[in-house]
Amino acid sequence: MLKTEDLSVSYGNVHALQGVNLEVRAKGVLHGIIGPNGAGKSTLMDAITGRRKPTRGRVLVDGQDITARSVSWRRRFGMSRSFQRTSIFPGLTVREQLALVATELGEPDLDEIVDAFELRASLDLPADSIAYGDQRRVDIALAMIGKPNLMLLDEPAAGLSTTETIGLFEHLVRLVRQRGVTALVVEHDVDAVFRFCDEVTALDLGKLILTGKPAEVRSDARVVTAYLGTAA
Ligand SMILES: Nc1ncnc2c1ncn2[C@@H]1O[C@H](COP(=O)(O)OP(=O)(O)O)[C@@H](O)[C@H]1O
Ligand SMILES: [Mg+2]
Repeated sequence: MLKTEDLSVSYGNVHALQGVNLEVRAKGVLHGIIGPNGAGKSTLMDAITGRRKPTRGRVLVDGQDITARSVSWRRRFGMSRSFQRTSIFPGLTVREQLALVATELGEPDLDEIVDAFELRASLDLPADSIAYGDQRRVDIALAMIGKPNLMLLDEPAAGLSTTETIGLFEHLVRLVRQRGVTALVVEHDVDAVFRFCDEVTALDLGKLILTGKPAEVRSDARVVTAYLGTAA
């Protein structure tokens, strides 16, 4: 489904990503990315979504090399990402924002998304006026529009409480399963990652340490040393 080969990104002489070979095989799964600050998680997401041109390496989706494709080509191709800011067009209601993107991308069942993220009560409110936790759900709902095959979320729960984070992941998992979307999620709340993700990849210093089942990654000595420390 998704594969990166030798994916590398340098900012001048900062080697943010170094030869990352990531593979996500199944559809309808949640794949978590963890790692300390500066590990290269956002750079990896940006290189996959096309926001950042890799210095070296390739991005393949279903065997097709999409490394050179634009962000908008990728979106039409079925790759979406969240934005961490809900109000794409200031002043629009939640309904208007969702409808705008749904019209552009041809979403057959916006109601399913609205219900899955429990957004019905917020539909007619200006998107920038609703509670922060609700805005985070709108943000992910926007990324879910148009039946993407692959969804990339960079810290979707940033700024949320533990309870809100769990709620957000519950919503996310439900729709990922329902729609068969594969979601790649960077999240620093490792408890949420280990609880909800099917597979987890740990990064450190721009390199992939390992990919595995949550239990396997959580107990890996290298991951514990690099990231989890005594908290594990
Ligand atoms: N635009 C940039 N210019 C220069 N260095 C950057 C830039 N973005 C990130 N970096 C550096 O690249 C490394 C990886 O950053 P990032 O991908 O944001 O890590 P993470 O998301 O895991 O915290 C860090 O050392 C960071 O300082
Ligand atoms: Mg980051």
